[in-house]
Amino acid sequence: MLTIDRLTVENLERGCVTDDATPRFSYALSATAGAEVREVTLTVGDWVCHPSSQIAVPYAGGPLEPFSTYPVTLSVTDERGATVRAATSFETGRMGEAWSGEWISDATYRFTDKKVSPRPMSFRRVFVPAPGRQVVRARLYATAMGVYEFSIDGRRVGDRYFAPGFTSYATNLQYQTYDVTALLADGDAGAAHTLLATVAGGWAVGSFVFTRVNRVTADRQALLAELRVDYADGTSEVIGTGSDWEVTTDGPFVMADLYDGETYDATRAFGPDGEGVGGTVRPSWHEAAVERPKTVPKRIEADYGAPVREHETFEPIGCKRRADGETIYDFGQNFAGIVRLDITGADEGQRIDVRHAEILNPDGTLNTTFLRTAKATATYICTSGDQTYAPRFTYMGFRYIAVRGIDPARIRVTGVALYSELARTGDFACSDERINRLQSNIVWGAKSNLLDIPTDCPQRDERMGWTGDIAVFAPTACYDFDMSRFLDKWLRDVKAEQLPTGGIPNTVPVQGYGFPATMPRMAIAWWGDACVLVPWAEYEARGDVSVLEDMYGTMRKYVNACRFWAGLFGVGKHRYIWWMPTPFQFGDWIAPDVPKMQQWQARGKWTGTASLNNTARTLAKVARVLGHEADAREYDELADRAADAYVSVFTDGDGRLKEEFQTAYVLPLHLGMFPDEATRTKAVDNLAALVESNGYRIGTGFPGTPYILFALADNGRPDVAFRMLTNETCPSWLYEVKMGATTVWERWDGLDEHGECPIGDDGTDLMISYNHYASGAVGAFLYRRVAGIEPVEAGYRRFRVRPLVGGGLTWANGHVDTPYGTAGSAWSVTGTRFTLTVDVPFGTTCEATLPDGTIRELAHGTHTMACDLH
Ligand code: BGC
Repeated sequence: MLTIDRLTVENLERGCVTDDATPRFSYALSATAGAEVREVTLTVGDWVCHPSSQIAVPYAGGPLEPFSTYPVTLSVTDERGATVRAATSFETGRMGEAWSGEWISDATYRFTDKKVSPRPMSFRRVFVPAPGRQVVRARLYATAMGVYEFSIDGRRVGDRYFAPGFTSYATNLQYQTYDVTALLADGDAGAAHTLLATVAGGWAVGSFVFTRVNRVTADRQALLAELRVDYADGTSEVIGTGSDWEVTTDGPFVMADLYDGETYDATRAFGPDGEGVGGTVRPSWHEAAVERPKTVPKRIEADYGAPVREHETFEPIGCKRRADGETIYDFGQNFAGIVRLDITGADEGQRIDVRHAEILNPDGTLNTTFLRTAKATATYICTSGDQTYAPRFTYMGFRYIAVRGIDPARIRVTGVALYSELARTGDFACSDERINRLQSNIVWGAKSNLLDIPTDCPQRDERMGWTGDIAVFAPTACYDFDMSRFLDKWLRDVKAEQLPTGGIPNTVPVQGYGFPATMPRMAIAWWGDACVLVPWAEYEARGDVSVLEDMYGTMRKYVNACRFWAGLFGVGKHRYIWWMPTPFQFGDWIAPDVPKMQQWQARGKWTGTASLNNTARTLAKVARVLGHEADAREYDELADRAADAYVSVFTDGDGRLKEEFQTAYVLPLHLGMFPDEATRTKAVDNLAALVESNGYRIGTGFPGTPYILFALADNGRPDVAFRMLTNETCPSWLYEVKMGATTVWERWDGLDEHGECPIGDDGTDLMISYNHYASGAVGAFLYRRVAGIEPVEAGYRRFRVRPLVGGGLTWANGHVDTPYGTAGSAWSVTGTRFTLTVDVPFGTTCEATLPDGTIRELAHGTHTMACDLH
């Protein structure tokens, strides 16, 4: 018997609205033993097909009409003739239809201040449905320069934050589609409805980047929206933004800034009709003006990303009132999000300030030093009585808050995590609770930094799309979550922002940064590598080749640029040594064995050359998947040359580096750059000796940290890998756990043994974040080696389970929700007996390897096997 477990359109089970002319459909099945698929029929509107793949089947029927709903059905028949069916639907968006509305703004609002965000702007339009006609379908299409939120008659439209999302606005701007039928059909027929939108500065107009630039995309906020209403009698009506809308900047949102926080004055709150309720200040609505924003996006397309929504909530685990009048709350978890205040019996005009921070000072006050210029403060001015407030247009990275201005007995605070909607696809657990905490910290590092774009950190005045961070973290993220929509969206911007000569900006979207400006055309190893490594990680996990097709041109141009920069000044083998400073490298960024930024960068020669090998080799694999054989050979050869240059120039030819440091061994070992087994063995022994002499502590920066355990374990030294993994001495992953970390830190030594931050201004510009996912890239090792699950064929159609026993673990298990269903590995050790249970999803096969070397080919089902450990 077969069951259809999942049927998706553009990776969404429900609610897909797309402008894609060829949306993609995927499905997963489960089955009882022996069941077989005889026939699969996918029907989309009038189009019928019999797909041979379960992943990303592209629509190939007649042209899709805009503003339409298409039913999708899947029927699957088994070997006995029994058929199961599943249904979903999707909606087309505008499909390029011109907007009947125009961009509007407040022509009277002059905003020239530097380094801050503009005052939020609100827009209003009253809509009266045609008399006597019943609304049967209503959609609101909306986007903004800034971040917006709509309400109808005072009821919030949708549940997402920070719409229209963060993209490279000059090229890509998303619009959202809201089903507002119920909001308009409610109430008396013929009654007036008030559409109200507030637009804050967000990324497009507000201050962003630690230099606090503002007005990058537009000089002030603007709104573009269209309401389309269908009536029961077959008529319809379209209301677009225009000068018949009203605007005001003296609504309740007094200040909103991504870094600084939000100020909300409830005495100015809008009533359902947009008029002021209570208080003395009435909004001065006036005519909105048609606006021509200084940046006109090339494409305005139906939302294709993963919307930011509310997720977990946290009640305080501790609360302390201080003599200075502030109350400090501890939520027990560092996260990105906002705080919700439930207030009782407040006085009109009472002001409540909430400051946020990741750590406390020794005296129990908030430590906000490392937020740098970010004020991360929510201020709420109360009306009288009971009320609730939560910021809408900002977020903070925090574990602690300090509340001032209210008696703790009259307020309840709740932490609300905000992050992009990502289906959780992986879990890992083992017998060592410390490693389980590490896994949780890795997942929270991801949740806190997968907020519309992949950010470096969620708290200080950065939160930018640093490419190097996701380049190293993507493989782990792709175990823990279905990253497809999130990464596909971001990769469109990577593609859009690629420099004409092939380099990739260090942060995407650039949005006012573009460092280092002096060398705008450069390629930068490991950071720019994101354009190759991120699509590859996504492809391996999800098996959808379209991400490779979409990015292939970008990848080639980038690797060609790397080859150019590496070869610029060298001759012979040195043409493949990407030496410092050509033109600039981050090198072994954050390596804890050398204290200075310049020392991390000075290792750029090693990390750059290894990057050239890695990106060229990965690109060759991509070329092969896409059927570009000649390209594949060209990039394989480039990878070989970089490997040969690395080994010839940096080592004695016998597995010893002339200048030794962990990353310099890790990269050639993990990337297979040593020419033969004998040299590799010597090299791994040298790495092991280096690690031992360092007390099994980490000495790697961004490029080495994800791979060091693989480099050791895969080359015969799992003993050393496990000693590093389980080490609690700083710097190590479990040192952070020992110190009570709930996320992964940027710097291993972020807190000393007393729980205090020992780092002052050490030349890194207070670069101390307690929520940076990059070093959490070790997560992939937990899945791939400890649980032992990894894809052999992209998307896990064929996968491997080969657990690595060590570190005193007596059991471990990992599950991965593959596109075909859940793959699982669960092992335990009793005495010397090792037992492994493997779950193989329907439609896949697995090669399981036991620690004694026995290999078993497994078909769909659950299989248990055992062996003796020696
Ligand atoms: C960020 C990093 C980033 C680095 C590169 C930092 O400020 O937080 O994670 O990759 O800069 O310079």
